[in-house]
Amino acid sequence: MKPPFYITTPIYYVNARPHLGHAYTTLVADVAARFHRMCGQPTFFLTGTDEHGDKIVRAAKKEAVSPRVYADRISAQFKALWPELNIAYSRFIRTTEPAHQAVVQQVLQRIYDAGDIYFAEYEGLYCFGCERFYTERELVNGLCPDHQTPPEPIREANYFFRMSRYQQWLIDHIRQHPDFIRPERYRNEVLAFLREPLEDLCISRPKSRLQWGISLPFDDNYVTYVWFDALLNYVSALGYPDGENFAAFWPAAQHIVAKDILKPHGIYWPIMLKAAGIPVYQHLNVHGYWNVDQSKMSKTLGNVVDPLHLRNVYGLDAFRYFLMREMNFGLDSNFSEEQLVARINADLANDLGNLFSRVTAMAHKYCGGRVPESGAKAEADLKFSLQAETWKAVAAYCEAMEEFAFHRALQAVWELINQMNKFIDVTQPWVLAKEKKARPQLEAAIYSLLEGLRIVSGLVYPVMPETAATMQRHLGLDPETPFFDLEGLKAWRGLPPETVLPKTVSLFPRVEPAGSRAEDAPEKAEAAVAQFKPQISYEEFSRLDLRVATVLKAEAVPKAKKLLKLEVDVGQRRTIVAGIAERYAPEDLVGRQVVIVANLKPAKLMGVLSEGMLLAAVSEKDTALATVDSRMPPGTPLR
Ligand code: MSP
Repeated sequence: MKPPFYITTPIYYVNARPHLGHAYTTLVADVAARFHRMCGQPTFFLTGTDEHGDKIVRAAKKEAVSPRVYADRISAQFKALWPELNIAYSRFIRTTEPAHQAVVQQVLQRIYDAGDIYFAEYEGLYCFGCERFYTERELVNGLCPDHQTPPEPIREANYFFRMSRYQQWLIDHIRQHPDFIRPERYRNEVLAFLREPLEDLCISRPKSRLQWGISLPFDDNYVTYVWFDALLNYVSALGYPDGENFAAFWPAAQHIVAKDILKPHGIYWPIMLKAAGIPVYQHLNVHGYWNVDQSKMSKTLGNVVDPLHLRNVYGLDAFRYFLMREMNFGLDSNFSEEQLVARINADLANDLGNLFSRVTAMAHKYCGGRVPESGAKAEADLKFSLQAETWKAVAAYCEAMEEFAFHRALQAVWELINQMNKFIDVTQPWVLAKEKKARPQLEAAIYSLLEGLRIVSGLVYPVMPETAATMQRHLGLDPETPFFDLEGLKAWRGLPPETVLPKTVSLFPRVEPAGSRAEDAPEKAEAAVAQFKPQISYEEFSRLDLRVATVLKAEAVPKAKKLLKLEVDVGQRRTIVAGIAERYAPEDLVGRQVVIVANLKPAKLMGVLSEGMLLAAVSEKDTALATVDSRMPPGTPLR
């Protein structure tokens, strides 16, 4: 039996919609899970949402709903997004699940009974944004380093977790397990932090200040600090302490996080496990940030990148490939659409796509559209051994995948693709085709190339599952079985001779650079101006009654693929039918503010009376709702 593989993402806060950063981490987990499944390991992939704490209470208040309603809404958005990105998790956990709450209380009680939790009066500087106390030393010019706001002095009695007791143990553990935290720069960062005395961790919040949390089992006047609650999801999701999954997958855990939450995962979590008598996880894998225009993505800066939009414009596999290839796992990366387009055209359309159509076209031309016969002797007669190149690539790829160095794994595959192009130039099948007695070599060359493509299709599978399936289908294979099995992939001559090859296919069409698309290019403005409508006076414009509306309910319209029926609050309740079902899921819309034309004559659409029209930007490829950039009372006019 192969060793189990357990991979986790952070559980995301439900205070904002998912963006590119969340999508990246979850995609990494998906790629790693697919690779380890392919290696034949029993695999469990966990993601979910972190739903307690002050942050959520404040976000819910802004939207005038209860924390529970708000958490349900945003959690559903995360859950709905992952299948859209072809991310196949095994379990989606929410910290509001009763079973999780029971585990948190059980672990707290156990640590309390062991004497590692004590009660004390504390006065400190508290940042409400981070939900934690700061020491003077940690502040930057007296401000919270994350929120750039002054923390507030608070005095209160609280429960503390005796982390200091485990400081030396943790240092020793990290030293004895050099790849416990990887890449190395983050291991060094944690060790540097541990050179200073470790302070005990405040793990309670008085209910007078916060009720949205899990009550302490030994004092009902307090709720649990959100990090102590959240970290335990990694074991509660497996059914700790007695669940089958816990027995099967713990402690083989591989956690993935970005550098922002290194400290809770690298310090609090191993110490919590140690204090609770649970074996410590295997690896913490830490990646950097996706920045936009060199600054961190944030709602305030308005530079948040929407993963679904990119998928819609560029295609899912191209988007997945870009994220995995572009980021050097561990370092920060800058996101730009120009870079995305450049990679699609160079790596996918030119390198992989061209090779695939070139080889399959040759198989049609020279071998009647069937996989030819080949043998070791004929292959040895060629001037170039593709088999040797393939094994080199597979070995480099597997080693990099094991180490979470996805960009290196993909580089190895692209090196193989280059070698295959070189192989064509060296063996020159078109020359071999001219000589009758060179037939065995011609067939060996075409066979080697097809076999190389079969192996490439398996190697790209974790990152581009749909493309892998298309490649396999066009090699005449059943896409279900072979690429789930790395062993099968590694056996040269996996492609049965005489297999009928379907027509060739273009895997990736070239895309235009973002800056040169008609809608972006200033020099093409003239063409666009020609399509503008005739001018109107302000008086004519002011006859339009545009209003801010809040979506109260959203549902599909039966038998209408494109339509959603919305109930909106526009100062009064109205029903609106909108043609946005292909772009927005109903649960994405509830609570959002939109802009409507409020004085359009009502009209019946698929039997439903629509009392207004939603405004949206509509291009050939995508639809984006018009909205206002801060919350406004429903019914506010636009002018
Ligand atoms: N709820 C905590 C985690 C608890 S885990 C027991 C939390 N949630 S979060 O919603 O803020 O998610 C943070 C994580 O989202 C990061 O660690 C990273 O995985 C991902 N990212 C958020 N923004 C990101 C970028 N700009 N770039 C890369 N990853 C990003 O912290």
